Amino acid sequence: MSMKFPFFKRKKPTQLQNDCDLLNVPEHVAIIMDGNGRWAKQKGLPRVAGHKEGMDVVSNTVKAAVNFDIKILTLFAFSTENWKRPKPEVEFIMRLPKDFLHTYLPGLIENNVRIDTIGDFNGLPDYTKEAIQYAKDQTKDNDGLLLNFALNYGSRYEIMRAIKLIMSDADLSKISVDEIDESTFSEYLYTNGISDPDLLIRTSGEMRLSNFLLWQLAYTEFWFTDVLWPDFSEEIFKQALLDYQQRKRRYGGI
Ligand code: FPP
Repeated sequence: MSMKFPFFKRKKPTQLQNDCDLLNVPEHVAIIMDGNGRWAKQKGLPRVAGHKEGMDVVSNTVKAAVNFDIKILTLFAFSTENWKRPKPEVEFIMRLPKDFLHTYLPGLIENNVRIDTIGDFNGLPDYTKEAIQYAKDQTKDNDGLLLNFALNYGSRYEIMRAIKLIMSDADLSKISVDEIDESTFSEYLYTNGISDPDLLIRTSGEMRLSNFLLWQLAYTEFWFTDVLWPDFSEEIFKQALLDYQQRKRRYGGI
């Protein structure tokens, strides 16, 4: 197995890693992986070729996150708005988790990675759900990197869903109005139990949140790059981490 994943085994500190102050890496990094379509178009390839390449870059990014000792990596893989895309493209993206896990799950297990998702899981096609559920079950006891895929995820939907869940608990007298504060509200989000992202990266030069983690990103540091997702690399990841280390996080204080 390790022969098949020779590059995934956690290495001794690399030069890249030595350049970073490992005590000050963000605990939770969230990434909006954008630009697959443009990458493909630039190469005269169909859009789905960009998504395929983007899938392999996910694997490299996970390896880098393990090497950098990041605890949580949340990747925006499919939004509730992405269903508006042409059906063949949606189907292609929905098959990527199975492809990805078929190739990379043994390496992820070997590296103690736990896989989870946020978003409306039940709204995914059966073949997507089955592949991911299998990976969740196989990795549930791992306590290394949490690899968290946002799939069929929309932040406004998530917030509205939380309100409905709170109202339903209130109807059942499980919660009273006085008990609802920021911390209790967070428990009704998909990200319950996960710390808010410290760093958000978005590729492809777009500077918007696209309905991603609106509540959770309140005090997150943002980092944008013009690089298209299929060209993202450990080197660019390191640049984001080095820039993050220069930021002064004040959380509204002075
Ligand atoms: C945005 O680029 C990308 C997506 C909507 C799909 C992202 C999916 C992956 C990177 C692969 C995910 C892998 C797994 C394992 C789930 P875009 O198509 O909007 O690019 P464009 O803005 O250039 O058109």
